[in-house]
Amino acid sequence: MENFQYFTPTKVVFGKKTELQTGTLIQEYGCKKVMVHYGSGSVKKSGLLERICKSLEEAGIAYITLGGVVPNPHLSLVYKGIELCKKEGVDFILAVGGGSVIDSAKAIGYGVTNPGDVWDFYEKKGSPKACLPIGVVLTIAAAGSEMSNSSVITKEEGGIKRGCNSDLARPRFAVMNPELTMTLPEYQTMSGCVDIMMHTIERYLNRADNMELTDGISEHLLCTVMKNAKILLHHPENYNARAEVMWAGSLSHNGLTGCGTDGGDWATHQIEHELGGMFDVAHGAGLAAVWGSWARYVVSEGTERFARLAVRVLGVSETGSDMEKALKGIEAMEEFFRSVNMPISLGQLGIKPTEEQMREMAEKCTFWGQRTIGCVKTLAQEDVYQIYRK
Ligand code: NZQ
Ligand code: ZN
Repeated sequence: MENFQYFTPTKVVFGKKTELQTGTLIQEYGCKKVMVHYGSGSVKKSGLLERICKSLEEAGIAYITLGGVVPNPHLSLVYKGIELCKKEGVDFILAVGGGSVIDSAKAIGYGVTNPGDVWDFYEKKGSPKACLPIGVVLTIAAAGSEMSNSSVITKEEGGIKRGCNSDLARPRFAVMNPELTMTLPEYQTMSGCVDIMMHTIERYLNRADNMELTDGISEHLLCTVMKNAKILLHHPENYNARAEVMWAGSLSHNGLTGCGTDGGDWATHQIEHELGGMFDVAHGAGLAAVWGSWARYVVSEGTERFARLAVRVLGVSETGSDMEKALKGIEAMEEFFRSVNMPISLGQLGIKPTEEQMREMAEKCTFWGQRTIGCVKTLAQEDVYQIYRK
């Protein structure tokens, strides 16, 4: 077992109609003006934005709004948000939406409170020293950004998608009403379930000694998400299934499933981020499309953990060698993705990268050959290219 730090400062307010408490929750922070940040329209259509604004007004909180965040959120809107917040004297950002909106809010929060170009933090040219306080009203169970230290932004020129991790950006509170996710299209719900699973699997498949307790939490979390994803496929309005998945989304990425591990692999995420940057695909669907190819490429190095995942989570029998179990587990995982209408290849994801584009993604993913990714097997530029090809 590895030493670890576990830091989850986010207050979670979970359950039906909890969004109505938003104004009262923000009152605790004594802020002067809030910027309500949201996406491309779902929150207007559902009436959520109106309810949030009313809750702020009832609590006597001044606010402005900035919508327009797109999936794989753009740096240009981040710059616009920074300008607006500075001009208006905003000192609290309320993100109403999913991972993209929350990540955009975190980036704006860095930009307002640090000198220089915020993109430098995403290019790893420095670390933020501050961030505006962020609150969240979550509308999709997926990225886990409502409790995570991470923000992922895409610079439109060159389609470069990069992350910045800092505890400073962990949201102060996250309002989670599972009912709000009932308006999601099936593809987004399932894409979210895959992302949640991947946040646990990336940590679970590692080269450390690990902790029995963390393994058990991770395995149960994975089984819970798989079971409830299947329920939601046929009954998207099942509140309990929505709730199980939503809470799993937060626990999957707030650090809990990484306690005592070496931090995890994360190659699948790095490989997918290039797909998101270049082709603007839904993040979870992109992960489903590349995971099997990555898994087969590295399984000879991390066989025992793959075998454990297969038996404990994917229903593979105890008999046979670790490698046999591991390979059956990879097949079973792909079968699960298929069963919830998720892609298991780039073709099924709806994209056909050319040789040149695959080379370019492998280059960008390894920072032009300057870094390797993954820990199950260390992957260099050529390995990443081979995984895209598969
Ligand atoms: O923009 P609107 O109109 O709101 O539509 C969104 C968007 O099109 C829609 N949606 C969200 N809630 C809805 C809804 N539609 C109907 N009803 C609702 N209740 O869903 C679409 C996807 O939203 P998005 O926020 O992009 O989804 P997600 O939460 O999956 O976030 C994906 C982004 O998060 C990053 C990903 O790379 C990607 O850019 N990630 C962030 C992480 C983090 N900060 O910790 C970790 C993840 O690994 C991930 O990389
Ligand atoms: Zn993810």
